[in-house]
Amino acid sequence: MADSPLAWWRRQGLRFRLTVAAAAVLALALALSASVLVSVLERALMDTVDESTRQQAQAVRVAADGGTLTSPITTHDGTLVQVIDDRGRITHVTYGTDRLVPLLDARARAKVLAEGKATLLDGRPYAIPGFLRVIVLRADRGQTVVAARPISEIQTSLVTAGKVLLIGTPALVVLLAVASWLMIGRTLRPIAALRKGAADITHTARSRRLPVPESRDEVHSLATTLNGMLSRLEEAEQRQRGLVSDAAHELRSPLASIRLQLEVALGHPEGQDWRETAEGVLEDTLRLSRLAEDLLALARLDERGGVPARREPVDLDEVVRQSADRYAEARLTVCDPVVVRGDALDLSRVLTNLMDNAVRHTASKVEVALTADGVLTVTDDGPGIPAQDRERVFNRFTRLDTGRSRDEGGAGLGLAIVRETVRAHGGTVSLEDAEPGLRVVITLPVARG
Ligand SMILES: Nc1ncnc2c1ncn2[C@@H]1O[C@H](COP(=O)(O)OP(=O)(O)OP(=O)(O)O)[C@@H](O)[C@H]1O
Ligand SMILES: [Mg+2]
Repeated sequence: MADSPLAWWRRQGLRFRLTVAAAAVLALALALSASVLVSVLERALMDTVDESTRQQAQAVRVAADGGTLTSPITTHDGTLVQVIDDRGRITHVTYGTDRLVPLLDARARAKVLAEGKATLLDGRPYAIPGFLRVIVLRADRGQTVVAARPISEIQTSLVTAGKVLLIGTPALVVLLAVASWLMIGRTLRPIAALRKGAADITHTARSRRLPVPESRDEVHSLATTLNGMLSRLEEAEQRQRGLVSDAAHELRSPLASIRLQLEVALGHPEGQDWRETAEGVLEDTLRLSRLAEDLLALARLDERGGVPARREPVDLDEVVRQSADRYAEARLTVCDPVVVRGDALDLSRVLTNLMDNAVRHTASKVEVALTADGVLTVTDDGPGIPAQDRERVFNRFTRLDTGRSRDEGGAGLGLAIVRETVRAHGGTVSLEDAEPGLRVVITLPVARG
């Protein structure tokens, strides 16, 4: 199967990729600096040779100008010199230098003179191994001094330097690659530990945490963040489990009651008042269906994650009037119009839940008030709720009067639904002491314009 190199590269492990990338960058940098080094070295060596050759040539020119040239000419450093007269004949040379053939012909001499710089010359035609640096100077009476210096030593030095670099550079690159491989391996070890820890969590019991490395680095904060997430998930799961067991518990008693009534009725059919049985069973069935509805309502609120089902303009005053009118104890003080954005059905469920509670606990009457700026209060004159329980009662399946008989009140979901719904509508709920009794205060944002 055809596979692009890029895809192959992406499939490799982080350790491999980091090591190769580091080694490649270092190799490039070293190669670049090696080539710069060699060329600078070459330049410097050439300049030194040119300078000393020029000095030798100048000394010879001075002697030629003064007519004190000896034959052969003597130089200290093996520089080859030819003095050529105006007719192109070689008049003086250093020892061992060709007397007949000039190192540079007339045209080449003129060119080098004009340039004023040393030139490179292949020495092989003159039986000299390697290359020569050649300087040309003009002397009096049309004479020309040609000085040449073999540079085979320079070439040898450069080749040696090149060889050292050629071996040293790859060795350095390999050293760095090995060091990177080891260091990256060390760095990645805590991540491997995290991965293993995470794998263990899925295979074994839940209440587990990921290993947190001692170093205070990114992996440490990743591990602590993930552990925080795990504990939040665990809590959520525990809450969920609690909710399921509470719900099962609440379902059990009406079901047991239905079963008992039916068993008794069927066990002793003689003289049985079937109507009474049916009424009892119906009551329990209503309880069950209320519980199912409340659970469904909460599940929907959870699902939506704090957003109402609809965002339509709702006449809150109308909702309050319609919901409260069904209760004989209700006394209404309602401003109109009060328009909020949201879901009318959800809001009327809030009212119903509050009215149910208030009517159940009140001694005489229930006051319902709605102000123009969206503050709704439901006040009863019953026993109220002690301050320390006023937050707790909003939790699901929380009932304070646990000893009550089963036909009073429900599962303890009413206030939980109230709070979730009001929150989804962008409002707040609080419980206050009405001395005597309880006042529920709900503030909803009013839609204007
Ligand atoms: N107006 C009130 N006066 C005194 N106590 C109250 C009042 N309203 C609620 N409570 C207490 O708060 C608890 C929780 O109320 P909530 O409405 O959540 O549940 P519930 O009425 O018991 O059941 P549900 O509403 O699901 O039928 C009630 O059990 C009750 O003890
Ligand atoms: Mg209630």
